[in-house]
Amino acid sequence: MLRLKAEKNAVILAHNYQLPEVQDVADFLGDSLNLSLEAAKTKAQMIVFAGVYFMAETAAILNPDKKVLIPDPNAGCSLVDSVDNAYVQKWRERHPDGVVVAYINTSAATKALSDYVCTSANCLKVVEAIPRDKPVLFLPDKYLGLYIKYKTGRENMEIWNGECYVHAELSADKILEVAKRYPDAELLIHPECGCGTACLLELPKLGVEPKFLSTEGMVKYVKVSLKRRFIIATETGIIYRMQKEAPGKELIPASEGAICKYMKLITLEKVYRSLRDGVYHVVVEPEIAKRAKAAIERMFQFQ
Ligand code: 13P
Ligand code: SF4
Repeated sequence: MLRLKAEKNAVILAHNYQLPEVQDVADFLGDSLNLSLEAAKTKAQMIVFAGVYFMAETAAILNPDKKVLIPDPNAGCSLVDSVDNAYVQKWRERHPDGVVVAYINTSAATKALSDYVCTSANCLKVVEAIPRDKPVLFLPDKYLGLYIKYKTGRENMEIWNGECYVHAELSADKILEVAKRYPDAELLIHPECGCGTACLLELPKLGVEPKFLSTEGMVKYVKVSLKRRFIIATETGIIYRMQKEAPGKELIPASEGAICKYMKLITLEKVYRSLRDGVYHVVVEPEIAKRAKAAIERMFQFQ
């Protein structure tokens, strides 16, 4: 793998939910924001993206002159699939002064119809920067949207009715039940989780102050916190990286079943084949890429 990478002048970028053996061969591991920042600045000629399709597509949009590969093109995302671009187009026509904010978990075509892209790490900053009198359409994750609406107090924000099929299962009841079982643990929640604002409102009544964080935010938090025990409410693949980077901490998944079948399509063997055979090339139509890139770059001011 190392020899091939050097021969091809390639870099392997991997998301925090990837299988342990894939994480081990990555040059860079991170959340959606850091992976797109890394993709934007890499000097390598080839990027092998160990993650899901929209992530590789984002890397391709940011690097029109580089070869971006995904080891399995079927690695999708339930959020991406939920969007109806015709509705977004109509919303724009109905709201000429409106602002469309697309979560990064969207297709290139949806990003091209949007003013801003955001990730779980910078969504609050992006929405807060939009003048309060402008109507906003946020898509596609309803739980993340509700979280943003609650935190920013923004009334004029329409939220698309999409969900991540993994995080939607991490409901308020499930998270409350685990939090009660481990009253001394810090609770880290990905804002895509299906608890909406219930966790924000109910948990403090039990004396628990949950932290809502992106996957990278969770890794950093576990490393620096003085607490020893953490409940991790997100996809379980992240635990491997946390164990490596924060040894000695006790990490309790909020649900052992929180496993993204799309992320797990990327195996070590497929990463090797991708590098060796130059498959599967992620190509974005240039006009779509140009408009999507503008929306992605607008979010880079909010890190
Ligand atoms: P992060 O950007 O927090 O890593 O989240 C990506 C994702 O797909 C969550 O399910
Ligand atoms: Fe998409 Fe959910 Fe999988 Fe993340 S965990 S890639 S949001 S389906």
